[in-house]
Amino acid sequence: MAELSAFWDKLADKYAAQPIADEDAYRTKLARTQAHLTPEMDIFEFGCGTGGTAIAHAPHVRSVRAIDFSKRMLDLARQRAIEAGVDNVTFEQGDITRIAVEPGRYDMVLGLSILHLLKDRKAAIARVYDMLKPGGRFVSSTACLGDSMRWFGAIAPLGRALGLLPVLNIMTPEQLRMDMTSTGFVIEHDWRPAPKAALFLIARKPD
Ligand SMILES: C[S@@+](CC[C@H](N)C(=O)[O-])C[C@H]1O[C@@H](n2cnc3c(N)ncnc32)[C@H](O)[C@@H]1O
Repeated sequence: MAELSAFWDKLADKYAAQPIADEDAYRTKLARTQAHLTPEMDIFEFGCGTGGTAIAHAPHVRSVRAIDFSKRMLDLARQRAIEAGVDNVTFEQGDITRIAVEPGRYDMVLGLSILHLLKDRKAAIARVYDMLKPGGRFVSSTACLGDSMRWFGAIAPLGRALGLLPVLNIMTPEQLRMDMTSTGFVIEHDWRPAPKAALFLIARKPD
Protein backbone atom coordinates (compact mmCIF):
# COMPACT_ATOMS: atom_id res chain seq x y z
CA MET A 1 0.00 0.00 0.00
CA ALA A 2 2.80 2.45 0.88
CA GLU A 3 4.25 2.36 -2.63
CA LEU A 4 0.86 2.82 -4.28
CA SER A 5 -0.23 5.64 -2.00
CA ALA A 6 3.13 7.37 -2.62
CA PHE A 7 2.23 7.42 -6.32
CA TRP A 8 -0.99 9.31 -5.50
CA ASP A 9 0.71 11.56 -2.93
CA LYS A 10 3.04 12.80 -5.68
CA LEU A 11 0.14 13.39 -8.04
CA ALA A 12 -2.21 15.09 -5.54
CA ASP A 13 -1.39 18.77 -6.09
CA LYS A 14 -1.52 18.39 -9.87
CA TYR A 15 -4.77 16.42 -9.55
CA ALA A 16 -6.35 19.14 -7.41
CA ALA A 17 -5.39 21.84 -9.91
CA GLN A 18 -6.76 20.00 -12.96
CA PRO A 19 -10.16 21.12 -14.27
CA ILE A 20 -12.89 18.44 -14.35
CA ALA A 21 -12.66 16.79 -17.79
CA ASP A 22 -16.41 16.89 -18.57
CA GLU A 23 -18.10 19.37 -16.26
CA ASP A 24 -21.62 18.70 -17.62
CA ALA A 25 -21.31 14.95 -17.12
CA TYR A 26 -19.93 15.51 -13.60
CA ARG A 27 -22.87 17.79 -12.67
CA THR A 28 -25.32 15.23 -14.07
CA LYS A 29 -23.72 12.47 -11.97
CA LEU A 30 -23.97 14.63 -8.85
CA ALA A 31 -27.65 15.37 -9.54
CA ARG A 32 -28.51 11.72 -10.24
CA THR A 33 -26.80 10.70 -7.02
CA GLN A 34 -28.48 13.45 -5.00
CA ALA A 35 -31.89 12.28 -6.26
CA HIS A 36 -31.38 9.30 -3.87
CA LEU A 37 -30.09 11.25 -0.85
CA THR A 38 -32.09 12.26 2.21
CA PRO A 39 -31.05 14.26 5.29
CA GLU A 40 -30.95 11.24 7.64
CA MET A 41 -28.52 9.24 5.50
CA ASP A 42 -24.94 8.25 6.36
CA ILE A 43 -22.78 7.73 3.30
CA PHE A 44 -19.28 6.37 2.66
CA GLU A 45 -16.87 7.21 -0.14
CA PHE A 46 -13.64 5.36 -0.96
CA GLY A 47 -10.83 6.78 -3.07
CA CYS A 48 -12.25 10.25 -2.37
CA GLY A 49 -9.17 12.09 -3.70
CA THR A 50 -9.30 15.78 -2.93
CA GLY A 51 -12.85 15.53 -1.62
CA GLY A 52 -14.89 17.56 -4.13
CA THR A 53 -17.69 15.01 -4.46
CA ALA A 54 -17.96 14.27 -0.73
CA ILE A 55 -18.19 18.02 -0.05
CA ALA A 56 -20.84 18.47 -2.78
CA HIS A 57 -23.05 15.74 -1.28
CA ALA A 58 -22.55 16.68 2.37
CA PRO A 59 -25.39 19.27 2.59
CA HIS A 60 -27.87 16.58 1.44
CA VAL A 61 -27.10 13.94 4.13
CA ARG A 62 -26.39 13.54 7.87
CA SER A 63 -22.78 12.45 7.45
CA VAL A 64 -20.14 11.56 4.90
CA ARG A 65 -17.18 9.34 5.80
CA ALA A 66 -14.61 9.60 3.04
CA ILE A 67 -11.41 7.55 2.83
CA ASP A 68 -8.36 7.58 0.63
CA PHE A 69 -4.96 6.01 1.11
CA SER A 70 -3.08 9.14 -0.01
CA LYS A 71 -2.24 11.47 2.87
CA ARG A 72 -1.65 14.40 0.55
CA MET A 73 -5.03 13.97 -1.17
CA LEU A 74 -6.64 13.99 2.28
CA ASP A 75 -4.79 17.13 3.40
CA LEU A 76 -6.16 18.93 0.35
CA ALA A 77 -9.65 17.50 0.94
CA ARG A 78 -9.72 18.72 4.57
CA GLN A 79 -8.64 22.16 3.46
CA ARG A 80 -11.39 22.25 0.83
CA ALA A 81 -14.01 21.21 3.40
CA ILE A 82 -12.95 24.06 5.70
CA GLU A 83 -13.11 26.53 2.81
CA ALA A 84 -16.58 25.24 1.87
CA GLY A 85 -17.79 25.52 5.50
CA VAL A 86 -18.81 21.85 5.54
CA ASP A 87 -18.59 20.13 8.93
CA ASN A 88 -20.34 16.76 8.47
CA VAL A 89 -17.58 15.13 6.39
CA THR A 90 -14.66 13.18 7.84
CA PHE A 91 -11.62 12.44 5.73
CA GLU A 92 -9.64 9.41 6.92
CA GLN A 93 -6.61 7.60 5.63
CA GLY A 94 -7.66 4.06 4.70
CA ASP A 95 -7.41 1.36 2.07
CA ILE A 96 -10.68 -0.01 0.70
CA THR A 97 -9.11 -3.45 0.37
CA ARG A 98 -8.49 -3.61 4.15
CA ILE A 99 -10.67 -1.19 6.09
CA ALA A 100 -13.07 -2.79 8.57
CA VAL A 101 -16.62 -1.49 8.26
CA GLU A 102 -19.61 -2.74 10.23
CA PRO A 103 -21.93 -4.73 7.91
CA GLY A 104 -25.09 -2.86 6.88
CA ARG A 105 -23.72 0.46 8.17
CA TYR A 106 -24.29 2.79 5.19
CA ASP A 107 -27.18 4.06 3.08
CA MET A 108 -24.95 4.77 0.10
CA VAL A 109 -21.37 4.04 -0.93
CA LEU A 110 -19.52 6.02 -3.60
CA GLY A 111 -16.55 4.73 -5.58
CA LEU A 112 -15.64 7.21 -8.31
CA SER A 113 -12.70 6.69 -10.68
CA ILE A 114 -11.37 3.95 -8.43
CA LEU A 115 -12.60 0.43 -9.32
CA HIS A 116 -10.24 0.27 -12.32
CA LEU A 117 -7.33 1.08 -9.97
CA LEU A 118 -7.81 -1.95 -7.74
CA LYS A 119 -6.14 -5.33 -8.31
CA ASP A 120 -9.30 -7.14 -7.23
CA ARG A 121 -12.34 -5.04 -8.04
CA LYS A 122 -14.73 -7.93 -7.41
CA ALA A 123 -13.54 -8.19 -3.80
CA ALA A 124 -14.09 -4.44 -3.40
CA ILE A 125 -17.61 -4.69 -4.86
CA ALA A 126 -18.38 -7.51 -2.41
CA ARG A 127 -17.10 -5.39 0.49
CA VAL A 128 -19.31 -2.50 -0.61
CA TYR A 129 -22.31 -4.84 -0.79
CA ASP A 130 -21.62 -5.96 2.76
CA MET A 131 -21.31 -2.43 4.19
CA LEU A 132 -24.62 -1.27 2.66
CA LYS A 133 -28.00 -1.48 4.35
CA PRO A 134 -30.65 -3.49 2.47
CA GLY A 135 -31.99 -1.07 -0.15
CA GLY A 136 -28.73 0.92 -0.05
CA ARG A 137 -27.03 2.08 -3.22
CA PHE A 138 -23.53 1.83 -4.69
CA VAL A 139 -22.70 4.74 -7.01
CA SER A 140 -19.66 4.16 -9.20
CA SER A 141 -17.98 5.76 -12.16
CA THR A 142 -15.31 3.62 -13.78
CA ALA A 143 -12.97 3.81 -16.74
CA CYS A 144 -13.72 0.69 -18.80
CA LEU A 145 -10.79 0.46 -21.17
CA GLY A 146 -11.42 -3.12 -22.25
CA ASP A 147 -13.56 -2.23 -25.26
CA SER A 148 -11.67 0.83 -26.54
CA MET A 149 -8.05 0.55 -25.36
CA ARG A 150 -7.37 -3.14 -24.95
CA TRP A 151 -3.78 -2.54 -26.21
CA PHE A 152 -3.22 -0.44 -23.10
CA GLY A 153 -3.25 -3.64 -21.05
CA ALA A 154 -0.03 -4.70 -22.78
CA ILE A 155 1.95 -1.56 -21.91
CA ALA A 156 0.43 -0.91 -18.49
CA PRO A 157 2.81 -3.29 -16.60
CA LEU A 158 5.83 -1.41 -18.02
CA GLY A 159 4.35 1.98 -17.04
CA ARG A 160 3.66 0.55 -13.61
CA ALA A 161 7.24 -0.78 -13.24
CA LEU A 162 8.60 2.66 -14.17
CA GLY A 163 6.36 4.32 -11.56
CA LEU A 164 4.48 6.23 -14.27
CA LEU A 165 1.15 4.44 -13.88
CA PRO A 166 -0.88 3.10 -10.97
CA VAL A 167 -2.32 -0.43 -11.02
CA LEU A 168 -4.75 -0.55 -13.93
CA ASN A 169 -7.51 -3.09 -14.12
CA ILE A 170 -8.68 -3.28 -17.74
CA MET A 171 -12.33 -4.33 -18.09
CA THR A 172 -15.24 -3.92 -20.46
CA PRO A 173 -18.50 -2.25 -19.36
CA GLU A 174 -20.19 -5.65 -19.65
CA GLN A 175 -17.66 -7.25 -17.28
CA LEU A 176 -18.26 -4.52 -14.71
CA ARG A 177 -22.04 -4.90 -14.96
CA MET A 178 -21.63 -8.66 -14.51
CA ASP A 179 -19.46 -8.13 -11.42
CA MET A 180 -22.19 -5.96 -9.92
CA THR A 181 -25.08 -8.30 -10.65
CA SER A 182 -23.19 -11.48 -9.70
CA THR A 183 -22.51 -9.88 -6.30
CA GLY A 184 -26.26 -9.37 -5.84
CA PHE A 185 -26.71 -5.75 -6.93
CA VAL A 186 -29.54 -4.64 -9.16
CA ILE A 187 -28.38 -1.98 -11.62
CA GLU A 188 -30.88 0.87 -11.53
CA HIS A 189 -29.06 3.43 -13.58
CA ASP A 190 -26.50 2.80 -16.32
CA TRP A 191 -24.99 5.73 -18.22
CA ARG A 192 -21.98 6.40 -20.39
CA PRO A 193 -21.97 10.11 -21.30
CA ALA A 194 -19.88 9.44 -24.44
CA PRO A 195 -18.78 6.21 -26.18
CA LYS A 196 -15.41 5.94 -24.40
CA ALA A 197 -16.33 7.80 -21.23
CA ALA A 198 -16.39 6.30 -17.74
CA LEU A 199 -19.35 4.04 -17.00
CA PHE A 200 -21.64 5.56 -14.35
CA LEU A 201 -23.71 2.98 -12.47
CA ILE A 202 -26.16 3.26 -9.62
CA ALA A 203 -26.64 -0.23 -8.22
CA ARG A 204 -29.04 -1.17 -5.44
CA LYS A 205 -28.71 -3.84 -2.79
CA PRO A 206 -32.11 -5.57 -2.67
CA ASP A 207 -34.24 -5.25 0.49
C1 LIG B 1 -8.31 8.76 -9.95
S1 LIG B 1 -8.34 9.28 -8.27
C2 LIG B 1 -10.09 9.60 -8.07
C3 LIG B 1 -10.37 10.59 -6.98
C4 LIG B 1 -11.85 10.98 -6.85
N1 LIG B 1 -12.69 9.84 -6.49
C5 LIG B 1 -12.34 11.61 -8.12
O1 LIG B 1 -13.27 11.08 -8.73
O2 LIG B 1 -11.79 12.65 -8.51
C6 LIG B 1 -8.14 7.77 -7.39
C7 LIG B 1 -8.00 7.96 -5.90
O3 LIG B 1 -8.12 6.69 -5.29
C8 LIG B 1 -7.14 6.57 -4.27
N2 LIG B 1 -6.92 5.12 -4.08
C9 LIG B 1 -6.38 4.25 -4.96
N3 LIG B 1 -6.41 3.01 -4.46
C10 LIG B 1 -6.98 3.08 -3.23
C11 LIG B 1 -7.26 2.14 -2.22
N4 LIG B 1 -6.97 0.84 -2.35
N5 LIG B 1 -7.89 2.56 -1.07
C12 LIG B 1 -8.18 3.88 -0.91
N6 LIG B 1 -7.90 4.83 -1.83
C13 LIG B 1 -7.31 4.44 -2.99
C14 LIG B 1 -5.96 7.38 -4.77
O4 LIG B 1 -5.14 7.79 -3.71
C15 LIG B 1 -6.66 8.53 -5.48
O5 LIG B 1 -6.89 9.61 -4.60
